[in-house]
Amino acid sequence: MTDSLRPLVAGNWKMNGSRAMTRDLLVSLGAALDGAGGAPCEIVVCPPAPYLADAARALASIPGIALGAQDCHAAASGAHTGDIAAGMLADLGCLYTIVGHSERRGDHGEASATVKAKAAAAIAAGLGAIVCVGETGADRAAGRTEAVVSEQLDGSLPDGAGAESCVIAYEPVWAIGTGQTPTPAEIGEVHASIRARLDRHLACGVRILYGGSVKPENAAAILAIAHVGGALVGGASLDADAFWSICRSCP
Ligand code: PGA
Repeated sequence: MTDSLRPLVAGNWKMNGSRAMTRDLLVSLGAALDGAGGAPCEIVVCPPAPYLADAARALASIPGIALGAQDCHAAASGAHTGDIAAGMLADLGCLYTIVGHSERRGDHGEASATVKAKAAAAIAAGLGAIVCVGETGADRAAGRTEAVVSEQLDGSLPDGAGAESCVIAYEPVWAIGTGQTPTPAEIGEVHASIRARLDRHLACGVRILYGGSVKPENAAAILAIAHVGGALVGGASLDADAFWSICRSCP
């Protein structure tokens, strides 16, 4: 993968949308991209798995937008009913997959060891792994933000992960879908500590995204914070104008 230092904005559609919405949204984004004469950053859309094939078809004529998935299984194949292997995602044209989103850690009891195995599987399949970490509101109130994020980072990153294969998304759980965000100083503090930790373990240049209630209104301020290398966007990625506006806010 290339563009390791270019800001990356990824849209996590979660369990939302339809085939029609997938086509419409990507056509609108493609038109915006054409109108602008190119992409202002690396752009990735992560639709629900059933719509990945439709999205891949739509994106075949939109070279400035890459396809990503929301999760993968740790195994390459086998008896795992309902699960999706990273190789299948690569086969469909995905370049990235999110792993360890807090909704997967919460809804499916995924511990960091599982996230690490999934990230390793993604990388082995040639995908970029977008590895999510983030504290709960209770962790933050207890002054445990840095400890929790460091623990998740250490436990979730596969050996040998580097800027080519891995992206970190710092997503405070309490900021996801709530409209609340940390202050720029708080985001800067966590990103600086993640950067310092990554530089001890990995090659430099791994991008650290911020995620949690990123909107057109706050995107420019968040994306300008030191060590913020892009955004992972949930709700606002379901609206082409809002998502495009966030992409255009990259410095
Ligand atoms: P949000 O979600 O932008 O809707 O807060 C972000 C995420 O969960 O990735």
